[in-house]
Amino acid sequence: MGKPERLFLSPPHMGGTELDHIHEAFAVNYISPMGPQLAAFEKRCAEITGFSHCVAVQSGTAAMHLVLRLLEIEPGDTVLASSLTFIGSVSPATFLGAKLGFIDSDRTSWNMDPYLLAEALAHMAKRGTLPKAIIPTDLYGQCADYDAINDIAAPYAIPVVVDAAEALGATYKDRHAGHGGRAAVYSFNGNKILTTGGGGVLASDHRALVEQARWLSQQARDDAPHYEHTTIGYNYRLSNIAAAIGLGQLEVLPDRIRRRREIFQDYVERLSDLPGITFMPEAAYGTHNRWLTVVQIDADTFGATPEQVRLALEAENIESRPVWKPMHLQPVFEDARVWGGAVSEELFARGLCLPSGTAMADSDLDRVADVIRGLPRA
Ligand SMILES: Cc1ncc(COP(=O)(O)O)c(C=O)c1O
Repeated sequence: MGKPERLFLSPPHMGGTELDHIHEAFAVNYISPMGPQLAAFEKRCAEITGFSHCVAVQSGTAAMHLVLRLLEIEPGDTVLASSLTFIGSVSPATFLGAKLGFIDSDRTSWNMDPYLLAEALAHMAKRGTLPKAIIPTDLYGQCADYDAINDIAAPYAIPVVVDAAEALGATYKDRHAGHGGRAAVYSFNGNKILTTGGGGVLASDHRALVEQARWLSQQARDDAPHYEHTTIGYNYRLSNIAAAIGLGQLEVLPDRIRRRREIFQDYVERLSDLPGITFMPEAAYGTHNRWLTVVQIDADTFGATPEQVRLALEAENIESRPVWKPMHLQPVFEDARVWGGAVSEELFARGLCLPSGTAMADSDLDRVADVIRGLPRA
């Protein structure tokens, strides 16, 4: 017997109308980084997220790069960010020559701890080294505590850029994920809740910021028939074909969130009686989109380590992944300052992300649960 079919962590899940949108793009021959599908995708993103302006680019990383550039981050500046995040959240600051400082997670949301942020800013203010921007990540689809973070950042007039790459469709109080600062970044990478096959969106209520980002994303071409350049830009614009995929995907967002949350509940039902297994909490202030279902495995109580669980799943051709390795533990950031650190280190040591794709069948969930339940435990 061959191997069972591969069960991926979070594969793309098409809604059904994507090809129709692509055909429409072909019909008007906009096979380029401009066109009606791209404009409609941006408009729809603005409607769904509640921001007045959106620009679509080739990745969430590119969107973050553009906004940090427009916040005039330069060599010698410092940017403070969540330590528990993915590299694409913070690498753009390094593209601009800035140094990073990291803030640990709190236990209720696993996101940037506002108390540690306050401590960091007070410390930096005393030394005259305040950061030029603060980037909280909405981890695994749960919003950071935006209001607490803004209350702390506002007296210092430091802009907050929300990394909502994983959080499309989540909410904070009565706002859509991302409404927690100057601008927000969303990712439409292949593993996200919705995908354009690679893409990102920068959203803001500041018109000039988004318009300048759009201009920078298209090689900073000044208005002249021969193209005039007064600054250096990037070739970051999303293609109209990718946007056509995105248009189809946006139609199914509510359904995808419902299903991600249902998958989370199904895992809770199948696994929560096991000693030593707990689930990522949902903070009282919002709705988690449950992009990934994440468990914590206490090896002493459960009788097997998260890595043993991961390898047992892999042996059955099931993909799972440790929680992000905190940025302050990454060799590339060995010189960076971190405030706190123990919480994200513990979440990394114990955490495992389980397959959470919305096309999963109940039998797939059974496959995952059977491996975890059947694991020999000490
Ligand atoms: C938290 C976080 N930030 C940033 C990114 C970067 O997005 P992209 O892959 O679209 O560049 C991702 C996802 O990949 C992410 O998960």
